[in-house]
Amino acid sequence: MIYIIKKMYEAFGDYVDIYPELRGIKPIFNKIEIKNNIPDNNDVIASLEYAAKIHKEIRRNLQSFIKPNVKMTDIANFIETKTEELAKQANTINKGIGFPVGLSINECAAHRHPSINDNTILKKSDIIKIDYGIEINEWIIDSAFTVYFDPKYDILATAVREATYTGIKNIGVDVNIGEWGKQIQEVMESYEITFDNKIYPIKSITNLGGHNIVKGIIHGGIFLPTVDMGSRFNNFRFEEGVYAVETFGSTGDNITFESGIANLYRLNPNKYSTNNLKLESTKKLLQKIKKSFNTLPFTDRYLQDFNSYKTHLNILANNNIIHTYPPLCVNEGAYTAQYEHTVYIADNKKIIFSEGEDY
Ligand code: CO
Ligand code: CO
Repeated sequence: MIYIIKKMYEAFGDYVDIYPELRGIKPIFNKIEIKNNIPDNNDVIASLEYAAKIHKEIRRNLQSFIKPNVKMTDIANFIETKTEELAKQANTINKGIGFPVGLSINECAAHRHPSINDNTILKKSDIIKIDYGIEINEWIIDSAFTVYFDPKYDILATAVREATYTGIKNIGVDVNIGEWGKQIQEVMESYEITFDNKIYPIKSITNLGGHNIVKGIIHGGIFLPTVDMGSRFNNFRFEEGVYAVETFGSTGDNITFESGIANLYRLNPNKYSTNNLKLESTKKLLQKIKKSFNTLPFTDRYLQDFNSYKTHLNILANNNIIHTYPPLCVNEGAYTAQYEHTVYIADNKKIIFSEGEDY
């Protein structure tokens, strides 16, 4: 199992104290150097390597920031501020923010992001999935991990980590995607967990999974299942490209549903019509979104200076010009975990960009 031990170490000239009971990741003690030579705009691998270093250096700083009673908005601000600071030399769209961080607690598995006035704190009994992206030259590193303070979640975290690493081990050009997902499920579901003397099977969540990443677009159109999908994926094989390998485990239902307030959005990367936009301000907001985020996901917090932004966001969403991403959760009372890495595969080649000492 994996524990963070209490240790004082030097970072940015000051001492950082890791909360002794932080679990789910191993510590990274040494500062990750972000090179000054900025990757060339056409160099996909160098851009992703640069973004991955920023992702890891933020993780290293986060491990001393995450303690019981920390506010969700503070975690989000911390990640965004660090991203901007570390990516400022490079070519970025939205200061290096590949997408707003997902801070999904307990039964919520993905896409929960704190709203402007969100007062939610991380409780000592919670299990949280932290999923954020770093963008350099329009290439996005998408990587996620799970942390908690109560050792009762250890087996859940282990099952999901093992499942994700099974996916990373097995991914390769020409590998059958259906078969690949089935093997992930077998590993994930070989685990069970006991809470209060009751045994719960750990299930691989069926309607969440990995995806390919293309330039400027986090979800490139290919879904990577993490369960046996029968014959549905039998004709699909991995091709050369960039993929986010992620798995989600649940102690309850194996399916998520939309729950709570949606505050994540993304410009529709396909054709859309603006004919129904009557208000000048709606058109202005659309221009602002294109200029500030292009097709990267964003949250309404980034638009709070724009008058009546919520009304105009709703109009854009209703016209299918922007997509909305609500939080995705399983049944209440259950717990979920997630681990994710961004990888590149080609013939006889595999780069696991976001893999670090921590996970
Ligand atoms: Co992710
Ligand atoms: Co992803």
